[in-house]
Amino acid sequence: MLQPHFLLSVVGCFIFFTSSYVYASTSSNPPQLQTLNTNPEYINPKLPPRTLSSSKKFEGSSDLVQLRYHMGPVLSSSPINIYLIWYGRWAASQKLLIKDFINSISPATAAAKPSVSEWWRTVSLYTDQTGANISRSVLIAGEYTDKAYSHGIHLTRLSVQQVIATAVKSAPFPVDHKNGIYLILTAQDVTVQDFCRAVCGFHYFTFPSMVGYTLPYAWVGNSGKQCPEVCAYPFAIPGYMGGGGPGALKSPNGDVGVDGMISVIGHELAELSSNPLVNAWYAGEDPTAPTEIGDLCEGLYGTGGGGGYIGQVMRDKQGRTFNMNGKSGRKFLVQWIWSPELKACAGPNALD
Ligand SMILES: *[C@@H]1O[C@H](CO)[C@@H](O)[C@H](O)[C@H]1NC(C)=O
Repeated sequence: MLQPHFLLSVVGCFIFFTSSYVYASTSSNPPQLQTLNTNPEYINPKLPPRTLSSSKKFEGSSDLVQLRYHMGPVLSSSPINIYLIWYGRWAASQKLLIKDFINSISPATAAAKPSVSEWWRTVSLYTDQTGANISRSVLIAGEYTDKAYSHGIHLTRLSVQQVIATAVKSAPFPVDHKNGIYLILTAQDVTVQDFCRAVCGFHYFTFPSMVGYTLPYAWVGNSGKQCPEVCAYPFAIPGYMGGGGPGALKSPNGDVGVDGMISVIGHELAELSSNPLVNAWYAGEDPTAPTEIGDLCEGLYGTGGGGGYIGQVMRDKQGRTFNMNGKSGRKFLVQWIWSPELKACAGPNALD
């Protein structure tokens, strides 16, 4: 029943936001809390657009956003168990950076405000038909490294599932039907079908014929060498804009590819949790091309974003750009998420 076309369209990542739409939606709604940190300066840079054009579906009016619940499950069991699959060669420092972000989601984490766990609070406002909220706790429950590129240096949307199957057998990961998800991360030398051209990441669910059972998963690639101006935006901007235009922002942890991945991972985890089997929260009439809670806020990182502006974010003394804090003093720049409460994009660094 599942046609390749269905598979392709349903998992598209939608990395490009519709700027005037985002602007309209954020400026007309009361913003969220904000704890001001007096150290960093506040900036709202205007940057050149990404290279690929965005979906214009919702441009111009937030009234057109019909985010609806389609009766399926959300990830409400606590904690959400993430099984990490590192595909290809990863530096220990890169792994640590990504794990620090994931481990910053749970509220128990000590982090300065605005924090990653406050950011996830918006995600936790989504419920299923029993009224159960998405869990606020996220745990790394297992890890597997495929250093040998066992399925080659190029992956397709289907061979990604073979990578998961290999990891499930070798790790081994438990069959965690209740609250498990797989997160497969490809190193910068791995090419993936549609990576850089149409998507920076996607989420879907595994098939029993390939993996043995049905579990939600997400893939995100390190774009550092292949297309940072697409998937690590705004830390890299299109080359043709180089002369005279505004420059790219300095990434918070000095690794453009991985710092860019962090926001995409946030995007995919938020969507996967609210739409794990692609039958829960999404906008649009076509379930094969859902617009999900991250898609609606793509490219927006703070108050006053849209129309080429990314929104008000912070810049520290070293010039690094960020909009939230995590554990161990980490800083991250992560896109906002559509709030069901505010009917607008929301984030922990919103200004009053
Ligand atoms: C659960 O979601 C509802 C609806 O968005 C929200 O009003 C409520 O505060 C949430 N509860 C928790 C415990 O987060």
